[in-house]
Amino acid sequence: MIFLNGHFMPIEKACISVLDRGFIFGDGVYEVIPVYSHKPFRLTEHLHRLQHSLDGIRLKNPYTNKEWHDLLEQIIAKNKGEDQSVYLHITRGVAKRDHAFPDTPPTVFIMSNPLLPPPQEWLTNGVAAVTASDNRWIRCDIKSISLLPNVLLRQIAVDAGAIETILIRDGFLTEGSASNIFVVRDQVLLTPPKSHLMLPGITYDVTLELAVASNTIHEVREITENELFSAEEVMLTSSTREIMAITRLNDQPVGNGKPGPKFRQLHQLYQQYKATHMRAGAVN
Ligand code: PDD
Repeated sequence: MIFLNGHFMPIEKACISVLDRGFIFGDGVYEVIPVYSHKPFRLTEHLHRLQHSLDGIRLKNPYTNKEWHDLLEQIIAKNKGEDQSVYLHITRGVAKRDHAFPDTPPTVFIMSNPLLPPPQEWLTNGVAAVTASDNRWIRCDIKSISLLPNVLLRQIAVDAGAIETILIRDGFLTEGSASNIFVVRDQVLLTPPKSHLMLPGITYDVTLELAVASNTIHEVREITENELFSAEEVMLTSSTREIMAITRLNDQPVGNGKPGPKFRQLHQLYQQYKATHMRAGAVN
C-alpha cells in the first residue's frame, strides 16, 4: 500500500497528473527512511532534514512532525516486512506549466519497500567504486528529486561493473552519487565537513557519533583526490546500504584490497547501535 494525497491505496491504483511539477520540473524533495523491526530509524533527524530541504525550495511542510509520525506508522503497518525502506516525496503540486510557483496544494507520496541486507559477499570482500567529476549544482544539501546528475554519475559506476561513483569537485572529495564517503589515512578516520556541496547524511552522523563513542581517532576536514587514492580504507554510508567497505577504486585495490579494521569496527558498532534502537521501542 502507498499513500498519495491523503489516501492509502495499492500502488497500481495510484495516479498523478502529467502536469505535476515533480514530473514537469523535478520540483520537489524527498527522504529515504530505514525502518528496522517496524520502527523508523532516526526519524527526528530525517524529518529535520526534510524541513531543511523544504525550506531550501521554499515549499511549506504539508504536515506537522506528529502527522508525519502517524502517517509513517500507518504505511509501515500496511506493508510487509520487519525492515523497510520508506520513501517520501513532496512536489509543488499540479499546475499549468509555468516556472513561477503556483498557488496549488503539494503532492505528497509515500511508499515502502522491503529493506534487504546487502549481499554477504559485499560485506566480506567490499565493493568497487569509480571516481568522476562532481558536475551537480551547488545546493547538494537539498534532497531534491531532480536526480538526473546523480543518475548519470551512478551509471558511470554501473557501466564499469562498480556500485558507486565517488565525486570530486575542484580536486576535493564531496560524496558518492547516493552516499557519503569516509576514508582512513594513517589510521585516522576522515570525512569531509557538511556544506552545500554534499547531502548531510543521517548515516554519516551516526558513523561520526560511533567514532566519538568508541574513541576512534577521526577528523572532519577536506580530503583531496590524491588523499582518496592513497587511502588505507575507503567506506560509503547511506540509509539503505549502512556502512560498506570500498576495496577497489578505479580498478585499483584500496589498501590491501580487503575490508580494513576501521570498517569492521564501525560496521559492528553500527549493527550494535541498530539492535539498541530495535529494543528501545520508542520512535526516535
Ligand atoms: N540517498 N548523499 C547522497 C547524494 C544521497 O543520495 C544519500 C542517500 C546520502 C546518504 O544519506 P543518508 O545516510 O541520510 O541515507 C548521501 C538515498 C538513500 C537515496 O537517494 O536512495
